[in-house]
Amino acid sequence: LTQTNNAGIAPVIRKKLMGYVGFANLPNQVHRKSVRKGFQFTAMVVGESGLGKSTLINTLFNTPLYPPKEPLPPSTERPKTVAIESIGADIEENGVRLHLTVVDTPGFGDFVNNDDRHENRVNRQKIVDNRVHACLYFIQPTGHSLKQLDIEFMRRLHTRVNLIPVIAKADTLTDEEIADFKARILADIAHHNIHIFQAPSYENEDEETLAEAEEIASKIPFAVVGSDHVVETSDGRHVRGRAYPWGVIEVDNEEHCDFVKLRQMLVRTYMEELREYTNDVLYENWRSEKLLSMGVAQDSSVFREINPSAKIQEERILHEAKLSKMEAEMKMVFQQKVQEKESKLKQSEEELYARHKEMKDALDKQRADLEDKKRRIESGRPLTPEKNTTKNRRFLR
Ligand code: GTP
Repeated sequence: LTQTNNAGIAPVIRKKLMGYVGFANLPNQVHRKSVRKGFQFTAMVVGESGLGKSTLINTLFNTPLYPPKEPLPPSTERPKTVAIESIGADIEENGVRLHLTVVDTPGFGDFVNNDDRHENRVNRQKIVDNRVHACLYFIQPTGHSLKQLDIEFMRRLHTRVNLIPVIAKADTLTDEEIADFKARILADIAHHNIHIFQAPSYENEDEETLAEAEEIASKIPFAVVGSDHVVETSDGRHVRGRAYPWGVIEVDNEEHCDFVKLRQMLVRTYMEELREYTNDVLYENWRSEKLLSMGVAQDSSVFREINPSAKIQEERILHEAKLSKMEAEMKMVFQQKVQEKESKLKQSEEELYARHKEMKDALDKQRADLEDKKRRIESGRPLTPEKNTTKNRRFLR
């Protein structure tokens, strides 16, 4: 039924099936499998010290992931993060399980305690997939533009991870200041060719989805407010927020900040996109770079699906490349050693030859002298004093 066209591509032939085969059930199979396996998502927070990274993590997932589990009294300062901390939590909603991992990093310039990094451990067999699907980059609410440190950091991160910039502690800026600040941040990001996560645009999408995507995109960089506390509003409601003498900033109120949109983007709308882009593009690029740096080229024309056998194959290639590199190095060292030995042998051979020649010359001369002497004795002529030197006497003995 299939014929290839000039380009060698088989045209799609649509046929109506006479009976029920069953592949229409594929989406249900995928759904069942996903629900059974659950989902796994890893986010990371990065930025200067004290910008509210740890607080936002708790706010974001509405779970006190950080000890102490009880909400902190308003006067209590959250301790500084001084090590790269990985916090995991299993969250369930309508029977769907999500294993969420959040990597909290110490603020820039803080003392970093890396003693317990996974990579340093001897037993690394239990390491799970630690790829970070989204990196929230916290920008200090200065109201000016990005700092050199932010630009430098983002430039190093953007090819490795889905970068999502957020304006920290947005309650410290007015609405106008936030709007101006956002515009400047976006201009800086564009100027420095920094790639931040963009919502993908799909064709044939329904209006509602398109509107949602547009709204999320219009809020980037998200101006967020985090809070561990429940406060009372002037009209008696109890909300998560921050209380000020002039009123309450509500975390979950879209009029007050972009927290809800950020959570919507991360969890409800683009979690799968973030995971897919991380696994298929960012990780693949990194892997290709690594392979190329080891001298193994990858066929970039074929978009390789990640599957265990392909991974094993690649690991084997990497291992073989490593072995052949080691072999080549050993060969080189061996050749060098052989060459050194050869040149030493040649040198001593030349020395021996020179000594041999010197001795032979001396003996030839001695023989000639003796023959001369013999001839003189036979002919009855006296020996010349010159011939009877100390040196010749030595050879005569
Ligand atoms: P490091 O652990 O040092 O990296 O700090 P961090 O970025 O994790 O900040 P953390 O969450 O510990 O918060 C630092 C301080 O800022 C705390 O006193 C928080 O109560 C406060 N804070 C957190 N979020 C906000 C916010 O949205 N607005 C305001 N005004 N303060 C906040």
